This record gives sequence, C-alpha cells and structure tokens, in this order.
Amino acid sequence: MSAPARDLHLRLARSGDVDSLVSIDTLVNARPGSEARFILACADNGLATEHILVLTRKGEVQGYLSYTQVLDEATILDVAIHPDEQGQGLGGILLSGSLQQMLDQGLQRCLLEVRESNLAARRLYAKSDFQLDGQRKNYYPAQNGRENALLMSRQL
Ligand SMILES: CC(C)(COP(=O)(O)OP(=O)(O)OC[C@H]1O[C@@H](n2cnc3c(N)ncnc32)[C@H](O)[C@@H]1OP(=O)(O)O)[C@@H](O)C(=O)NCCC(=O)NCCS
Repeated sequence: MSAPARDLHLRLARSGDVDSLVSIDTLVNARPGSEARFILACADNGLATEHILVLTRKGEVQGYLSYTQVLDEATILDVAIHPDEQGQGLGGILLSGSLQQMLDQGLQRCLLEVRESNLAARRLYAKSDFQLDGQRKNYYPAQNGRENALLMSRQL
C-alpha cells in the first residue's frame, strides 16, 4: 500500500520533535542513540554536526533521516520509519526528498553504510540509485558475532 503523498511534509527537525525521534529510534534500533544526541541535533544554534530531516503526516513525525556534511559530501547516519508505518513507501519518499534537499544546498555526493543483513534498507538504497563501493568486514556487532558493513554512495 502506498502513502498518499499530499499529507506528507519533509522539514528540518526542531526541538519539539525530540520525543518522537527518541521513540522511533528506540523502536527500530537495537542500539538506540541518546536523547542528548537528538537534543543537540535539533537545537537551532548552528552548532550541530548532525542534521535531521523529519517526514511528517498531518503534523505527526513518521520517520527521520540524519546526516553529516563535510565540504560538498553528505554522509547518511540513520534512516528510520516508525514500525507501524513501514512498507508503504514512506522510506522512499523520505530518502528522495532528503537527497533533493542536499542537492538544493549545493552538496554533490552522498555516502552511507548499511548492514549486509538489512534487506529493506539495501532495497531502499538500490532503488534510489546508490552504488556499492565496497565493504567493511565484521564491522557491526550482531546477534551471532559480527556482520559486514556495505559502503554505498551516489552523486546527487
Ligand atoms: C529501511 C526503512 C527506513 C525502509 O522504510 P519503509 O518505509 O518500510 O520503505 P519503503 O516502504 O519505501 O520500501 C522500500 C523498499 O524496501 C522494500 N522492503 C521493505 N521492507 C522490506 C523487508 N523487510 N525485506 C525486504 N525488502 C523490504 C520494499 O518492498 C521497497 O522496495 P519495492 O518498492 O521494490 O517493493 C525501514 O524499514 C526502517 O525504518 N528500518 C529500521 C531502521 C533501519 O534499518 N534503517 C536503515 C539503517 S542503514
């Protein structure tokens, strides 16, 4: 089932989004980040190195994408859609909208890392034209030991 795009809005995260971000992060990540990380990234003081875009529907945060920027390159740190809302195309809308915003800011390239076992995320990135650049062997802790990170990138 695909999400009606008319109800969706992509914007920079602000301090009022911290609770939603913490909640989604806790639901989707085995090792969630700290609340302090989100408070810092959402603060409107120009000091944050992590930038977060949120996808909202009728004002409710459905998911977020976070990234850092060095010169004209962005590195995606996290992409997450609330578990109740996955599988409706929201991840694709969040990713394509975020890549467009990066391009609009003058960025040229986008990089990321993904767990080899994360088939949903790999499918999402492949559909958005990310190419495999290489891998880091045994990079991530996993349930049964460790697993590889795939390194991917695309021109914006
Ligand atoms: C990855 C994630 C953001 C995708 O969000 P989503 O809204 O479910 O994605 P979409 O509905 O846009 O689907 C994107 C593609 O992934 C596929 N997909 C979704 N879930 C899947 C699964 N469990 N296994 C395989 N493919 C899957 C979809 O079928 C779709 O491909 P298609 O259009 O060819 O059918 C979401 O699953 C998530 O939040 N996961 C937990 C956090 C995470 O792993 N983030 C990535 C870190 S690198």
